Amino acid sequence: MPQLTSPDVRFHASLLDAVQECVEEGRDPAVLLGHEIGRHATTWREPAGFAAYVDMLLAETERPRRPDWVPMTNLWYVQDDTFLGSLSVRHRLDPYLLDFGGHIGYAVRPGARRRGHATAMLGAALPVCRQLGIDRALVTCDTTNTASRKVIEANGGVFEDRRGGKLRYWIRTGN
Ligand SMILES: CC(C)(COP(=O)(O)OP(=O)(O)OC[C@H]1O[C@@H](n2cnc3c(N)ncnc32)[C@H](O)[C@@H]1OP(=O)(O)O)[C@@H](O)C(=O)NCCC(=O)NCCS
Repeated sequence: MPQLTSPDVRFHASLLDAVQECVEEGRDPAVLLGHEIGRHATTWREPAGFAAYVDMLLAETERPRRPDWVPMTNLWYVQDDTFLGSLSVRHRLDPYLLDFGGHIGYAVRPGARRRGHATAMLGAALPVCRQLGIDRALVTCDTTNTASRKVIEANGGVFEDRRGGKLRYWIRTGN
């Protein structure tokens, strides 16, 4: 059964497959793996470079990659050694996140979409939020992103408002 887990070098080969999938479908792998993939792309095909990328992701609970970012927990959704998607929980909201970004960002690799993974992955992230002290998680999506809107609503998202091009929903993370 798929589960959320911490980034780990054992998913190296599968992540490279996922990036290739993005390239073949003309999608930007940054959606799946963050814009830092541009900086790491040349090195992370080698085990040492990939390990450095994983270390950076793990360190973001305390040292975000950018000084203006809040700490976040980066997780991968996996089945056995197969990488299916990525999800990040931002530990608190800054003004930008409150208006647009929300607490949680997620993406599913192109070849694994439309199988319910995003819905299950967001559900699995709610206890993680709870543990981080987030009682109500803000989750946003583009007004045009029907799939993500359904994912949020299937997880109990209560619509608050629209700000710019974003729909904003709150999800209770526990009872
Ligand atoms: C949005 C995204 C995460 C959905 O992932 P997914 O695993 O395919 O989603 P699910 O399989 O859980 O599907 C959720 C619902 O959306 C629907 N859906 C999925 N892809 C869709 C599409 N391209 N168009 C319309 N509906 C779609 C599904 O049918 C399902 O609807 P249902 O609940 O009525 O059956 C994925 O498309 C993705 O990674 N997109 C790029 C990144 C992104 O947009 N992230 C969200 C940022 S807020």
